[in-house]
Amino acid sequence: MPKYRIAWMPGDGIGVDVMDAAKIVLDAIALDAEYIPADIGWEFWRAEGDALPQRTLDTLKTCDCALFAAITSKPNEEAEKELIPELQGQGLVYRSPIVRLRQTFDLYVNLRPCKAFQGNPLNFRDDLDLVVFRENTQGLYAGVEFHPLPDDVRAVLEGASPRMAAFQGVDSADIALSCRIFTRQGCQRIVRQAFEYARRHGYPTVTLVEKPNVIRETSGLMVREARKIAAEYPDIALWETNVDAMAMWLVKNPQDYGVIVSSNMFGDIISDLCAQLVGGLGFAASGNIGDDFAIFEPTHGSAPKYAGQYVVNPTAMLLAVKLMLDWLGERALAARLEEAIAAVIAEGQVRTYDLGGSDGTLDVAGEVVRKLA
Ligand code: NAI
Ligand code: MG
Repeated sequence: MPKYRIAWMPGDGIGVDVMDAAKIVLDAIALDAEYIPADIGWEFWRAEGDALPQRTLDTLKTCDCALFAAITSKPNEEAEKELIPELQGQGLVYRSPIVRLRQTFDLYVNLRPCKAFQGNPLNFRDDLDLVVFRENTQGLYAGVEFHPLPDDVRAVLEGASPRMAAFQGVDSADIALSCRIFTRQGCQRIVRQAFEYARRHGYPTVTLVEKPNVIRETSGLMVREARKIAAEYPDIALWETNVDAMAMWLVKNPQDYGVIVSSNMFGDIISDLCAQLVGGLGFAASGNIGDDFAIFEPTHGSAPKYAGQYVVNPTAMLLAVKLMLDWLGERALAARLEEAIAAVIAEGQVRTYDLGGSDGTLDVAGEVVRKLA
């Protein structure tokens, strides 16, 4: 039996293209694994009313980890219209499969390394090595949301917070509420993972990105817990910044930063900014990591206009494979793969359109394979 069972979820659009590239590279490094296809994406929403069928969750439970590429999502009204006729009008609501996967498997770390590869013409600077730890299950993405605001929720809020007076006289039908929920344990574990990573990889700082001067309770809890954890790592400095200022600092002096940790939404935004500093969507990979399961993916979506054309850059997907190899403990293979990817970028002989080239997705994979040899 192969050593690893890896769930295989190409999803939609260019997800298929870049997963084909991943397979070429995985075969070349001869990872001792079997790949188990699992259904996810728009076609399952249309035909079954669920983009992430239960059978996929069941399959994932039998696997060590998963590779996922991309899915298409559309706003509620559009999603409803695309359902097969039998499923329309039943009140089915489209929910993001990846958010569900993160919550179902408690994948609380979203790890997003953003490293400038030498020779990448899209680098903002060549000396960047940022690693974002984004909390992945709580905060504003926990999904506790209301519109209209239910009467009982409103009554509790009005009884509990004098600040609700600001909304007196506004009809509940005209109020939308999204709850930003942090737990102490949720704050602790993401910050601890960031410090552990910094220690393991020799980063001198961990920068906490929040907004505690305004969002006093949630960001405040994160900051207070981070300070306690930082005390256990005297060799690593905790830097605290506000998210708005951080957006400026990351454009002004990104080379000053290393490991960055933040809550779900701020981390989502900051990590996209970091990704663009090192080449954007074609280079941004992420790991959704829990204590005993993980899903690795490129950050980009399904880019429908390029679907099936095999023209997009597979580097983000290949870097997701690299993260998976690291997580599996296959560090030598991971390092070899990263060196091969770096060599292809540095040489610049095989390039997809985003880099000004005209080579295809699988040409890049083939070139990476040649560098592996
Ligand atoms: P997108 O990431 O799919 O594509 C935006 C643009 O970025 C593309 O048109 C293309 O020009 C460029 N791009 C993306 N990946 C690239 C690659 N590997 N190489 C070169 N260029 C690349 O975002 P968009 O267009 O906003 O969304 C398309 C669909 O994907 C939507 O349905 C959206 O909901 C979904 N989506 C899914 C995500 C996921 O599966 N995690 C994440 C983001 C969007
Ligand atoms: Mg995002």
